[in-house]
Amino acid sequence: MDAATVRSLTTPAARRLLAELAGLPPSELVGAPGLARASRLRRSHDARLVAAATTLVALRQRATAKLGADAPHLLLDRTGLEQATRFTVASHRAARLAHSDAATVVDLGCGIGADMVAMARAGLRVTGVDRDPARVAMARANLAALALPGQVLVADALDVDLSAYDAVFVDPARRGGAGRSFDPAAWSPPWTFVQSLLTAEPARHVVVKTAPGLPHAMVPPRVEAEWVSDGGDLVEAALWGPPLATARRRATVLPDGTTLTDVDDPGPLPAGPLLEHLYEPDDAVTRAGLVTAVATLVGGRLVDEHLAYVTSDRLVATPLARAYRVVEVLPYRERALRAALRARDVGTLTIKKRGVDVVPEQLRRRLGLSGSVVATLVLTRVEGRGTALLVEPLD
Ligand SMILES: C[S@@+](CC[C@H](N)C(=O)[O-])C[C@H]1O[C@@H](n2cnc3c(N)ncnc32)[C@H](O)[C@@H]1O
Repeated sequence: MDAATVRSLTTPAARRLLAELAGLPPSELVGAPGLARASRLRRSHDARLVAAATTLVALRQRATAKLGADAPHLLLDRTGLEQATRFTVASHRAARLAHSDAATVVDLGCGIGADMVAMARAGLRVTGVDRDPARVAMARANLAALALPGQVLVADALDVDLSAYDAVFVDPARRGGAGRSFDPAAWSPPWTFVQSLLTAEPARHVVVKTAPGLPHAMVPPRVEAEWVSDGGDLVEAALWGPPLATARRRATVLPDGTTLTDVDDPGPLPAGPLLEHLYEPDDAVTRAGLVTAVATLVGGRLVDEHLAYVTSDRLVATPLARAYRVVEVLPYRERALRAALRARDVGTLTIKKRGVDVVPEQLRRRLGLSGSVVATLVLTRVEGRGTALLVEPLD
């Protein structure tokens, strides 16, 4: 979508058209019903506007999971939506930044403005910058649609005079999507620029959103890396510059907001025999290297010093780890395991594994279970030995 199309979607006539389309179920926007409606609408509206409005309404419907109640009011395109931060995560970060002594923030590469909206809502005075005029038009329209203050400018991040702002936020675009892989060569603005912001002297209030695959070795000195999961999905690693850092490594689990840092971490712990409960730390905890901190939290120990499973006599409810009761230790060899599961009438089996060379789908097929019992099996190493555990999830 170009900037002119974005503007055409903000006129009163376009708003009426969008409201009309928004009332339709998703199935009415595509296929034969969609085509018939578009051809009818083209009699009274510009054909490009009809196409753009139909696409936008379909995107808004898809965007609700990510952008929440704002979605029906936002201007966005497919890439802008893919790049946008989930509202839960953006709100968490914005609240933390707003809690600092920063009052003004510049968002270098603001995209459609999902982070900017959260920062404006948290009370920060926001300026967005993007080199893409269409994204700037969308971000501007989005602040206006939500009645939030802020300005958005077309510029290259590298040319912005940062001295006018208390804080800088950067969420670099990543070629090839926002997955777990971490390839700073594919960043725009580039990693070298981000790194120079994080290591500037005197130190700046800088926050950078990066992929959760961020290697620990790339976190500059005095900078905090915060791995964040939301609803069980590991979504990002945020870097907090020295004035904002309060730890070196942090895991935050949303929507609850429970957080754990290396300050809570005793460091390496010896592994020991299995106890009554098994804990599977959240991926944010594992990526942050804080499994031993969870072991301390639940009064337990690791089952293997290289694996992210914790065992404890105590049952501690925490969003930082999923707890299981160990029901039984089953044979680890496949034939004996099959016999044991059949003897317990297991039919539906969830298989979890860590540190062992097993493909759960293939094993499940080979086991050929058909009983009536629903069960969970954990395949892992306990003190270095392959072990099969029948466990009961405790919610
Ligand atoms: C990942 S998106 C930002 C998404 C945003 N945080 C949100 O939640 O909606 C990155 C944005 O940076 C912009 N960008 C990339 N390189 C830039 C540069 N050198 N200067 C300004 N903007 C840039 C891209 O156009 C893109 O819109």
